Amino acid sequence: MDDLALMVDLHGDGERQSPGDDAVTRRAIALAGLPGRKNLSIADIGCGTGASTMVLARTLDAEIAAIDFVPEFLETLEDNAHRENLGQKIATHPLAMDALPFDDQSLDAIWSEGAIYNIGFENGVRYWRRFLKPDGILAVSELTWLTATRPDALTEYWERHYPEVDTASAKIAILEASGYSPLGYFPLPSYCWLANFYRPIEGRLGAFLERHDNSDAAQAIVAEHREEIAFYKRYSDYFSYGFYIARRSDG
Ligand SMILES: C[S@@+](CC[C@H](N)C(=O)[O-])C[C@H]1O[C@@H](n2cnc3c(N)ncnc32)[C@H](O)[C@@H]1O
Repeated sequence: MDDLALMVDLHGDGERQSPGDDAVTRRAIALAGLPGRKNLSIADIGCGTGASTMVLARTLDAEIAAIDFVPEFLETLEDNAHRENLGQKIATHPLAMDALPFDDQSLDAIWSEGAIYNIGFENGVRYWRRFLKPDGILAVSELTWLTATRPDALTEYWERHYPEVDTASAKIAILEASGYSPLGYFPLPSYCWLANFYRPIEGRLGAFLERHDNSDAAQAIVAEHREEIAFYKRYSDYFSYGFYIARRSDG
């Protein structure tokens, strides 16, 4: 089994594949000004098993294109959508987030929680903009420094894993330079990381290793996760995901 298949095996049973919470998604929906609008067309990009997709479907009058390149995640989302009778609002698409089939200016909103880093924040917000209608909404969460300075060990760790990590002011400047007008920003509270994401993963690591006979590859993935979790627990004052909500501007 290659590393991607192992990651899918470890994360597929999770309710979410990145830090987050239904209440956080609802807060971003409110900041985006979407409640009450009719017949919205929304893409949830890098949706995973669809924690945010389900909140969007429950909350809004919308058709949602749920996009992820892992078909197993999309199957779980489809099962969940059918269980809640939301299947008619959600269409899944096994696609790469940097080769999307939408028409230009066709979407009311692009949603993406904990996923844009896969193609880089600046690259992603620039590429996705064309698919938004004029005044369309972009709502993305992105790894963010919470302070202007921080311990060197933390800087070194995240610059090795995600060199685009930066402060909220720097991310907002990128949005402004890329043709967006910012509407809101908030950092994710720590329960989104610990209770909702890391604790469930920690509970699955033992069974994951057993399923893969303690293979070197599985042990390496477990070690990476343990290191990341330890960094979060030690340095959570200094970083989080930031949720950025912005409107396409054409001025
Ligand atoms: C960290 S997970 C976040 C999932 C979900 N949004 C959530 O918050 O639980 C990132 C997701 O992006 C997907 N992904 C990564 N690279 C991708 C790409 N190039 N195209 C499409 N999906 C991708 C992964 O399969 C994964 O489901």
